[in-house]
Amino acid sequence: MSPYAHITGWGMAVPARVLTNADLEKMIDTDDEWIQSRTGIRQRHIANDEESTATLARDAALNALRVANLNPTEVDLIIVSTSSPEYIFPATACLVQDMIGASHAGAFDLSAACSGFIYALNMASQAVRSGSVRNALVIGAETLSRFVNWEDRNTCVLFGDGAGAFVIQSGDEPGGVLTAVMRSDGSGGGLLSIPAGGSHLPTSPETIMHKQHTIHMNGREVYRFATRVIAQATKEVVFAAQLHIKDVQLVIPHQANLRIIEAAMRGLDIPLDQCFINIERYGNTSTASIPIATCEAIQQGRLHSGDNIVFVGFGGGLTWGAALVHWTGPFLPHRRIYPSSYRLWVAIRSKLLRMVRRIEGWIWGRNI
Ligand code: ACO
Repeated sequence: MSPYAHITGWGMAVPARVLTNADLEKMIDTDDEWIQSRTGIRQRHIANDEESTATLARDAALNALRVANLNPTEVDLIIVSTSSPEYIFPATACLVQDMIGASHAGAFDLSAACSGFIYALNMASQAVRSGSVRNALVIGAETLSRFVNWEDRNTCVLFGDGAGAFVIQSGDEPGGVLTAVMRSDGSGGGLLSIPAGGSHLPTSPETIMHKQHTIHMNGREVYRFATRVIAQATKEVVFAAQLHIKDVQLVIPHQANLRIIEAAMRGLDIPLDQCFINIERYGNTSTASIPIATCEAIQQGRLHSGDNIVFVGFGGGLTWGAALVHWTGPFLPHRRIYPSSYRLWVAIRSKLLRMVRRIEGWIWGRNI
C-alpha cells in the first residue's frame, strides 16, 4: 500500500521591518482608507538589506524542521516556490540546502507565482506517496518588495515579504494531503508580469528606465479571474476527494485581497469564519501567504485532528490550484531535535566544501 503524505512540521519567517499604510501615505498619493477598503491590508513586512528570499526561506525551513523534530540531514527533497528568487540560477532551493545542511537532499525551485505553494505541496506529496521520498521540505518564499515599483500606487500597496514552510513526511496512517488540482491559462500571462530581465527582454538601460523589471498588473482583470477560480478549484479538489463542501472545516486561501476572499466564499456558500484571513498584517506575500496563514491558524487553535482543510491559490501565469488535507496532527515527538543548532557546523561544512573545490582546482589546473 502506498504511504500517505502528512504535514508534520510548519514554520514561518517575516522581516521585522513593518511598512504601514500611514508610511505609504508619505511615499505616494494614497490613503489608509482606500487601501483598507479595497484590499483589507493595514501593513506589510519588508526585507532589510541583510534579508533576502533565501534567508527568509532558511528561517522558515528551520522552524518547520523544529516542529517536525526532523534533522536537516534526513530531508530528501527541498522545493522552494518563489517568483523573487535569489538568482536566475543557482536555484534558491540549493542555497537553502547548503544553509540548513540538508546534505542528502535534492533541491529545485518552482515558479508558479502565487499558486506556487499549492503546486510545490502537490509535487512533494506525490513524491512522498510514490515512496521515492520519505521527508520533503516545501517552502514558499518571497521578497517581492525588490520587484515592486514604489512609485506605482496600483501595485506597491499590495505586496509584502515573507516565507513559510511545511515538512511533508511519509506515514501509514490515512490522512495528510489527499488530493490536489493544478491549472493554468497562459493566455492571461500579460495580466500580471515582470516584463523585463528574462530572455524575451534582457536587461538594458531602456528596460531599467521604463521600470520594466517591476511588477505590472491589470488589477481588475486579475480580480475577476481570482474570484472565479478560487471557487472552481475548491469545488474540484473537494470533489476529487469524494467529499462535499460541507465536509470542509477550514479554507486557507491565498491572501491577495480581502474582497476577493469574501466574494469567493460567498460563491462557495462557506461562512467567512470558516476561512482563515490574516492579510491585514502581511499584505500579499504571494507564494508564502498560504503557509504563513497556516502557521498562524495552528497557533490560534483553528486546526484540529480530523479536520478537512482546503488550501487554495491563484496568481500570475495565470495559474491556480487547490489541495485538500485531512489534518492528522498533532504528532508526538519521539525525540528532540534543534535544527538551528546545526548552523555553525553547517557553515563550516559549506566553507570546507568550497575549500576542497579550490584545492582540487589547483591540483587539476583549473581555477574555480
Ligand atoms: N490609493 C489610492 N487610489 C488608488 C490606489 C491607491 N493605492 N491604487 C489605485 N487607485 C485608484 C486608481 O487609480 C483608480 O482611479 P481612477 O478611477 O481615477 O483611474 C481607482 O483607484 C480605482 O481603481 P480600480 O482599479 O477600479 O480599483 P479596484 O477597486 O479594482 O481595486 C485592486 C484595485 C485592489 C488592485 C484590485 O483590482 C485587486 O485587488 N485586484 C487583484 C490584484 C491581485 O490580487 N494581484 C495579485 C495576484 S497574485 C500574484 O500572482 C502576485
